[in-house]
Amino acid sequence: MVEMMNMSAVERRSEAGKRVADGSAVSRPNTSGADATRKGRSVARKPARLDASRFGPWAVATGASSGIGREAAQQIAANGLNLVLVARRAAVLTGLGEELAARYGISFRVIPADLAQPGAERAVIEGTEDLDVGLLFSSAGTGQPGAFLAFGGEQLRDIVHLNGLSHLLLTHHFSQRFAKRGRGGTLLVSALGADSGIPFHAVPAAAKGLVNTLGRSLHVELKRSGVGISVLIVTPTDTPLVEKMGLDGSAMPLKPMPVEQCVSEALTGLNRNRMIIMPGLLFRIINRLVPHGLVRTMTADMMRKSTTFVS
Ligand SMILES: NC(=O)c1ccc[n+]([C@@H]2O[C@H](COP(=O)([O-])OP(=O)(O)OC[C@H]3O[C@@H](n4cnc5c(N)ncnc54)[C@H](OP(=O)(O)O)[C@@H]3O)[C@@H](O)[C@H]2O)c1
Repeated sequence: MVEMMNMSAVERRSEAGKRVADGSAVSRPNTSGADATRKGRSVARKPARLDASRFGPWAVATGASSGIGREAAQQIAANGLNLVLVARRAAVLTGLGEELAARYGISFRVIPADLAQPGAERAVIEGTEDLDVGLLFSSAGTGQPGAFLAFGGEQLRDIVHLNGLSHLLLTHHFSQRFAKRGRGGTLLVSALGADSGIPFHAVPAAAKGLVNTLGRSLHVELKRSGVGISVLIVTPTDTPLVEKMGLDGSAMPLKPMPVEQCVSEALTGLNRNRMIIMPGLLFRIINRLVPHGLVRTMTADMMRKSTTFVS
């Protein structure tokens, strides 16, 4: 069955993990167009374990075409949950969905959406109305180093909508649904430095700060409804974002961690209902011991050296 949910959504169901229902054979995983091929990695090696009775049968993963969201989709599928894959690049999402359907026998649906645009979250809300969703993995986002004064008003609005408001609106919608079911949860992706500030990355940091504060508040507020909310404070992680930011991962003072580790720790934390998840012991120690003022100064220097710096 190939079902058109609306003009921009596609759903396919696997058959015995071998074929997608439109008849196209899936002989081996298709990872084209995405970062999974960067280091020859295709699927998570040690997927985190998720309670499928709580978070299933369907999960929504935003930012699923790349990096953390893509790896999350892989680890969620490894737990047998069906997936709604959201990002702008529909073809990449479909390739991933077919790979996961073939490998794990799950169903998937693709919803292309530009979450920087006000109202874009409607496509996700309407495209999942008929599904029993138990998990929102809210990862879509990006970064842009630059001087605050150099950005235009529209750019600032887009950055805040993508990295902050869209997470809030999706969390609001799905938390209402989870509360009605009496179970379910959201993993909100924030960033290291969002609370303490990131010079020359002020607006994405501020938007992630919104996500961080929202998640901490809701973690307590929604507990009685059976709704779990965890915040992933992403420490430097090896995804295509590092390159997009114009940063040289190999020259960073601390090497970015493998994305599999970041996501495995994130999903394990969500499953254990942790409020805050900061992957990597070394990063947790540094975050505790090194004064935030010093980190801000060092980060400002790193951002100024970015090759994509907006001045
Ligand atoms: N990697 C790190 O070290 C790091 C550090 C701090 C925070 N983070 C945060 O972690 C999250 C995931 O980042 P990543 O490292 O996985 O980066 P990534 O590999 O670049 O992935 C970003 C994902 O977000 C989607 N996205 C970007 N703009 C979008 C838009 N306008 N509408 C809908 N989807 C959009 C992208 O898909 P399309 O391009 O197909 O739309 C992609 O799937 C982000 O929120 C990022 O800010 C990462």
